[in-house]
Amino acid sequence: MLTTIAQVGQHVGQEVTIGCWLFNKRSSGKIQFLQLRDGSGFIQGVVVKAEVSEEIWDLASQLTQESSAYIKGIVRADERAPSGYELTVTGVEVIQIAQDYPISLKEHGVDFLMDHRHLWLRSPRQRAVMAIRSEIIRAMYQFFHENGFYKVDAPILTPTSAEGTTNLFHTKYFDEDAYLSQSGQLYMEAAAMALGRVFSFGPTFRAEKSKTRRHLIEFWMIEPEMAFVDHEENLRIQEQFVSYVVQSVLKNCQRELKTLQRDTSKLENVTAPFPRISYDEAIQMLQEMGHEIKWGEDFGAPDETAIAERFDKPVFITHYPTEIKAFYMKPDPNRPEVVLCADLIAPEGYGEIIGGSQRIDDPELLQQRFAKHDLSEEAYQWYLDLRKYGTVPHSGFGLGLERTVAWICGLDHVRETIPFPRLLYRLYP
Ligand code: 4AD
Ligand code: MG
Repeated sequence: MLTTIAQVGQHVGQEVTIGCWLFNKRSSGKIQFLQLRDGSGFIQGVVVKAEVSEEIWDLASQLTQESSAYIKGIVRADERAPSGYELTVTGVEVIQIAQDYPISLKEHGVDFLMDHRHLWLRSPRQRAVMAIRSEIIRAMYQFFHENGFYKVDAPILTPTSAEGTTNLFHTKYFDEDAYLSQSGQLYMEAAAMALGRVFSFGPTFRAEKSKTRRHLIEFWMIEPEMAFVDHEENLRIQEQFVSYVVQSVLKNCQRELKTLQRDTSKLENVTAPFPRISYDEAIQMLQEMGHEIKWGEDFGAPDETAIAERFDKPVFITHYPTEIKAFYMKPDPNRPEVVLCADLIAPEGYGEIIGGSQRIDDPELLQQRFAKHDLSEEAYQWYLDLRKYGTVPHSGFGLGLERTVAWICGLDHVRETIPFPRLLYRLYP
């Protein structure tokens, strides 16, 4: 029976077999040190020439980088080993000797690594990022299940836009026009009227010609939507949610954070409540810092970074001008030129990770917004129905998974946060 590297600690002093790949190797002529990986972790296998048969020694010698094998050995606890254990090798069964693995242990350029993304994923760094991404998803689901939310799935093929018409991916749906989903939100609003508190999680698509370290063409978004929740409560849920996810990663991914050399003191600080400033205050702050920005304009990445630097936690910017936000956001009843919305800006220059708002619940106001945004009322009839049949105050938000992974892992670019990134001019592999 096979053991995994993650489980060898349960077998100290015993002989185990692991299915693995050779990651790296050192040899002194009398001892070979095999760096082995199996996905669950890394371990060093030690082959001592004087202690194994000639056949086993030769098989171990033949192993090249990324060769696959079943390795048998006795588990030893070893404080100096990164995993805490070492394997004294007693058997080698080669599955395949890999020839000329293209990614060597030296540095490679980004384009080369992106062309070999299917192999690059095997590196310790990329493995760590994917493991943290997986933990973030697990923690998000757990938070929602602990707080009375139902998981509801939104369609990917949609007849209309949800977030403006400029970056839609068009396709044909037999004789009709269809678009890849930019957001599941509108469907989650319908689901919230049926189930109270819901969330969707799925890929979303934006045909944005942006080539920045924060933009993907295809990215994953988690989108909660809650009936009878107003703007204020929406923010409270968001700060609890984000703190919960960050603290879960700190608790369950210490090894991976270490591989990434992440400064975790900055993450330990991420606990609710988060600071809040209004859009007006943000504009004033930026103008005082000498940024060229006027009331009514949207923030650029340098603006967001400058604001985030003023705080040691994620910061909410609330009440943006109605003019620059989506059609569905509810105007502030006391000040209709701004909406009851907030963007959550991550620390350390990672920018906006959440966009959310209270939604318009009045059918007439929604109709006016359709007209203002040149959206056909006919196409959104079903969405209007939600306001005609038992409308209620409701709110929701969308968290971009990849920007969140980049922030928590401390990565320079979102391309490393998703297994197979879809970027401007990159669809391979
Ligand atoms: O601010 P956005 O556009 O909001 C919505 O789509 C709402 N319908 C969400 C809701 O209220 N249910 O996008 C939400 C988040 C952003 O804060 C950002 O983290 C991420 O999605 N995002 C992107 N991530 C990577 N690449 C892109 N091109 C992104 N566009 C948005
Ligand atoms: Mg946004």
